[in-house]
Amino acid sequence: MSDSIRTIQVHTRPAYAVTIGSGLLSRCGQQLRDVLPLCHVAVVTDSTVAPLYLETVKQSLAAAGFTVSSYVFPAGEAHKNLETLAGILEFLAEAHLTRTDCVAALGGGVTGDMAGFAAAAYLRGIRCVQLPTTLLSAVDSSVGGKTAIDLKAGKNLAGAFLQPAAVLCDTDCLASLPAAMFADGAAEAIKTGVLSDESLFSLFETGRLETDPGSVIARCVQYKAGVVERDEKEQGERRLLNLGHTVGHAIEKCSGYAIPHGHAVAAGLAIIARSAEALGWTEAPIAGRIAACLAKNDLPTGTAYSAQALADAALADKKRAGGDITLVIPKRIGVCELKKVPVTELLPIIAAGLEG
Ligand code: GLY
Repeated sequence: MSDSIRTIQVHTRPAYAVTIGSGLLSRCGQQLRDVLPLCHVAVVTDSTVAPLYLETVKQSLAAAGFTVSSYVFPAGEAHKNLETLAGILEFLAEAHLTRTDCVAALGGGVTGDMAGFAAAAYLRGIRCVQLPTTLLSAVDSSVGGKTAIDLKAGKNLAGAFLQPAAVLCDTDCLASLPAAMFADGAAEAIKTGVLSDESLFSLFETGRLETDPGSVIARCVQYKAGVVERDEKEQGERRLLNLGHTVGHAIEKCSGYAIPHGHAVAAGLAIIARSAEALGWTEAPIAGRIAACLAKNDLPTGTAYSAQALADAALADKKRAGGDITLVIPKRIGVCELKKVPVTELLPIIAAGLEG
């Protein structure tokens, strides 16, 4: 594994840097001195990550002169809800954080989304830094400022945009990930390859990711940074990043969030690719190639849920706008396009992509 440090600038307002490399959690205090005043940093993390990295982060922050407190919530997407958000907000208030203080989201996508939303809501918005510890949060969710919780009606239905003050991605954390969680992040990286980068996609086809995950993370972040800079609030181009997510979110919801996000997105990606090919929307046969790549990375390529159940779940989702829904259609590896379809067509489109 390469231990070089890579830095990618994200030119949003405010701009920030994503730093990727080995040993960053134990140096996070020093690193954050460059972007934060000496302030109170509230570290928010979950019950899986706390035993692994919380003390390291707190010690580094304290050694750099920050006042530090921490809040640990039960791990899992099932806890990405109003109740947990309320717990974090009450904690920030009891710890007397002020407008000049900061939340540090230490963990995976759930933690980043929820701690980020708490930072966006507390005192109408305080700073947040993202310290991703999973491949999924490193390649996707820690960058771009989307924060959210799930509501009963669907995933990520309440949230805010809050660009982080910094993202520190310690690649050493990837070594502690169970194989299934590594695969979960690979799904979002494969998605990035389908969107933008044939050579990134090929890396996953030949299965060489573990040799230099820092480089894969950097390529995914570089692509996402460009999209977010051009369309921070998802008015147009940023919708492309939802490739595989319409059906993916429906699968997550149907499973009561037992199926992890990346696995659901993988299945959603395979299904929309098959649909697109079956309906003549692709430029070349790609569905088999995408499914083979996902399978090689231990990811699902289909689902047991019916087209009706998936369409019902998807239409309660936030991407519904009036009578239309915007889908992301792969044309060929590296090129996708947005396609607005009437909501009444979603059921047959999904049905066209289900296996068997
Ligand atoms: N995860 C998709 C986005 O950040 O827009």
